[in-house]
Amino acid sequence: DIVPVILCGGSGTRLWPRSRASKPKPFLPLVGDSTLFEAALARCPGDGGFAAPVVVTGRQHLDHVEQQLGAADGAQIIVEPSARNTAAAIALAACRLPEDAIMLVCPSDHHIADAQAFAEAAHAAADLASEGWLVSFGIEATAPETGFGYLKQGEPIGAKGFRTAQFVEKPDLERAKAFLAEGGYAWNGGIFAFRVKDFLGELAAHRPQIAQAVADAVAKGGTDGQRFHPDAETFATVESDSVDYAVMENTSHAAMVPVNMGWSDIGNWHALHEALARDADGNSVRGNAKAELVDCRNVLVDSDGPRVSVIGLEDVIVVVDGNDVMITTVAGVQKVGKLDGAANQ
Ligand code: GDD
Ligand code: MG
Repeated sequence: DIVPVILCGGSGTRLWPRSRASKPKPFLPLVGDSTLFEAALARCPGDGGFAAPVVVTGRQHLDHVEQQLGAADGAQIIVEPSARNTAAAIALAACRLPEDAIMLVCPSDHHIADAQAFAEAAHAAADLASEGWLVSFGIEATAPETGFGYLKQGEPIGAKGFRTAQFVEKPDLERAKAFLAEGGYAWNGGIFAFRVKDFLGELAAHRPQIAQAVADAVAKGGTDGQRFHPDAETFATVESDSVDYAVMENTSHAAMVPVNMGWSDIGNWHALHEALARDADGNSVRGNAKAELVDCRNVLVDSDGPRVSVIGLEDVIVVVDGNDVMITTVAGVQKVGKLDGAANQ
């Protein structure tokens, strides 16, 4: 079986005021009724060939994780004593699993519309991982985004996979544009399939400090019910780096499985609006409150209480959460995380 490794780390300040330090993005029902974290778990069901999940998270998210994990049988929660980025988070899970286990590393803060396409890609990726490949999900690149990794598609392996000829994490705008113009590049979806021993071997080859210090922190750690606590003092010494820079850019065994599954990392309010159902004018209303939109196009209203009435606006997002109101144009969504309100919640 494939072991889902669910990463719960980020804060999601770009979705303020709905996402807050006290209740960040993964634990909110942003699309539909389940939270993004619950949806990530539900995509990896036991009867779909998945083992019980391993959730890697910080202390600050532990309550949310335990509430929303529910009765997942045999699930394990690894509690990071401090945040050391994804290379270390994945290594923690790897060190707790048998060396031949296949891990499917899943972010907890993405939306995937087509669960069937996800499942098929997961099994194709797991098959390649069991042959020693370090496999990324490749998402069709539609814009020169600089917040993603880029995968250059190489020669085919098997029915559904390709070698990753080059993995470039977060290129600058000029390079991202050049990749799009050249063609043959996909975005890295941030979902990976690894066999435990291959991941740890490549990590040891390219970031020996992370591999060693994480292994030590796990060896000195302790279990408490379904929680595992790595040794805090040792874990604090681990270098902070993402799996993309630490392993995927460097390994010569990178592969990719292209998949079309309605993926979005819901990186800002506009991306969320695009993932939601809209009416004929492109408007959508979320939350508990009534909203009245007159002569509006592409307006998103999200309110937890107050009624919101809008006349004659286009490409605007209005969010009301408690005592905070945030209004932005679509063009402004990238600046939301830098607002004083988002920084000092
Ligand atoms: N447990 C834990 N601990 N999880 C973490 C940590 C950590 O220290 N740091 C990040 N995460 C989680 C985040 O919550 C998220 O679910 C996932 O790991 C990826 O981290 P991000 O910080 O969101 O990475 P990114 O968006 O900048 O880039 C990654 O994802 C892109 C796709 O969304 C990269 O893999 C890119 O290449 C990729 O395109
Ligand atoms: Mg992300």
